[in-house]
Amino acid sequence: MDSMGIQRRTHHCNELGLAQVGERVTLMGWVLRRRDHGGVIFIDLRDREGVTQIVFNPEINPDVHAEAHRLRSEWVVAVTGKVEPRPGEMANPKLVTGEIEVLIDDLTIFNTSETPPFPLDEDSEVSDNLRLQYRYLDLRKPEMSANLIARHKAVQTIRNYLNDKGFLDIETPMLTKSTPEGARDYLVPSRVNGGRFYALPQSPQLFKQLLMVAGMDRYYQIVKCFRDEDLRADRQPEFTQIDMEMSFVDEEQIIETVEGMISLLFRETLGLQIVLPIKRISYDESMSRFGTDRPDVRFGMELVDLTEIAAECEFKVFRGAADKGGTVRGLNAKGCGSFSRKELDDLTEFVLQFGAKGLAWVKVKEHGEWQSPIAKFFSEAERQRIAAALGASPGDLLFFGADQAAVVFQVLGELRVELGRRLGLLDKKNFTFTWITDFPLVGYDEKEQRYQALHHPFTSPRVEDIDKLETDPGAVYSRAYDLVLNGTEIGGGSIRIHNRDLQMRVLKMLSIPEEEALEKFGFLLRALEFGAPPHGGIAFGLDRLMMLITGSDSIRNVIAFPKTQKATCPLTDAPSKVARRQLTELHIRPDWKE
Ligand code: AMO
Ligand code: AMP
Repeated sequence: MDSMGIQRRTHHCNELGLAQVGERVTLMGWVLRRRDHGGVIFIDLRDREGVTQIVFNPEINPDVHAEAHRLRSEWVVAVTGKVEPRPGEMANPKLVTGEIEVLIDDLTIFNTSETPPFPLDEDSEVSDNLRLQYRYLDLRKPEMSANLIARHKAVQTIRNYLNDKGFLDIETPMLTKSTPEGARDYLVPSRVNGGRFYALPQSPQLFKQLLMVAGMDRYYQIVKCFRDEDLRADRQPEFTQIDMEMSFVDEEQIIETVEGMISLLFRETLGLQIVLPIKRISYDESMSRFGTDRPDVRFGMELVDLTEIAAECEFKVFRGAADKGGTVRGLNAKGCGSFSRKELDDLTEFVLQFGAKGLAWVKVKEHGEWQSPIAKFFSEAERQRIAAALGASPGDLLFFGADQAAVVFQVLGELRVELGRRLGLLDKKNFTFTWITDFPLVGYDEKEQRYQALHHPFTSPRVEDIDKLETDPGAVYSRAYDLVLNGTEIGGGSIRIHNRDLQMRVLKMLSIPEEEALEKFGFLLRALEFGAPPHGGIAFGLDRLMMLITGSDSIRNVIAFPKTQKATCPLTDAPSKVARRQLTELHIRPDWKE
């Protein structure tokens, strides 16, 4: 070894095979496993790329062999030796390098390691907190480093694609003014301007629109966004968007550009050929068939409207819902007639969390008879009509929801996916995309007694609906589109409003008074007065995309240093206390206990 530095690595631990037999190589990495076989020591050496078996034989170099006796899990070393074929029956077909081993004659121990708090070479039950606290060890696991490598490759593919299409990568501020994407802001107090706050961006929405006004024509950024909202498996407080915007285009050109990007991404990462164009369904159709605007279309079990039949029946729950302007819908869990009472109770419990008042069910028996707590409320004719509407046959299990439409859609939509999960219908390797189009521009927020934008307030209404903005806001559709993959919303965007007067009308319809509009978005409204081009765009959730591409259950597995469900970081212990002096400088007088 050169005394001034470190010897040179010749290969990664995934690179050696029969082609290198006889070569002298140097590998560097961590001790994954160690086996002592009567004098000969076998070690699985791991680096970012893979694993190679190395062998210490006392007959090759007794000193090095003696030194190798000290090696323990996660010690970090350099080794040099000759590549040898493994004896036939010793080859390991599961390992890329399984046909060879390296006979070591030189060993440098760079560092020892404490015993890791959890094993890195097997799937063991480890609490998420512990994994995150020792994330640098967790990331040494092959499946975790593979996720980060896949993410890196995906980002490179996307950048190349967008660069080729004339998009400019332009950075936008992190210390900025709050933009309304519907979540709570993370605020940053200003020291220099006491009592004022920056917001971390929920997205670069307004800046990318300003870049279009600035004539930048096509923009993209792979960018962190911050949202203080309740966390779930597919939600993090800081996450990454592939954010894009284009000038002089309509929906079709944006969709075409994005489909090219997504299909290239899946080809490059998974070798999959996505069928283009991606199927589109309208928001209304998606709600009515799947109960949600992010439908999982890998399986059927669609919702069926039974309101008309229900309106005439004796069952109070159904008739009541129909009479009060609500809806009654059913779905057929084909072949699930053998579900136990316990399973039905579990599913009832499951739907209660989504606001259901109950879950009516029917087991269809041999000659079409109903076994059900509600069977007695229906005439034979009604039973037959319901069975026909649901395509029921003996052995099926029917479920019903009766309530206001929003409740029924959510309840049956969630029930449908839960049934899909239980029945093993959610094949992770089946990637099925759907565009959702024709969203309503707004939805009525009962709690706040006002209309809220379904996307954001800068989304353009459909041209033919503009004259209904003041008279019938609920009937106005927008020029927005979402891309859904296997029940997850992976991206969403729209054609924007590029006319100041129209923007003001929409803000007014959202009950944002002119004064407030000017205070919050005055800069955008002003920019629209200086030759704003027609423009539109979209943003993808990179973490969600990678979660699905890598087959992970949570976006945490594709983020190097994610937060817990409570938005904390067990590794650094953020968020943490700060010195009183820091607060004083920020003009903040705490009223909490230390
Ligand atoms: P939107 O709010 O739909 O649109 O966000 C775009 C995409 O970002 C992902 N996403 C998230 N991923 C992880 N954790 C979160 N908390 C989270 N929130 C959102 C989703 C979503 O589809 N400015 C608009 C885009 C536009 O109109 O161009 C926007 O931010 O995959
Ligand atoms: P009840 O008459 O309230 O005992 O309800 C009879 C059955 O209907 C039970 O299985 C309930 O779970 C179910 N049920 C009650 N309310 C609803 C509802 N709003 N939608 C669907 N099923 C319901």
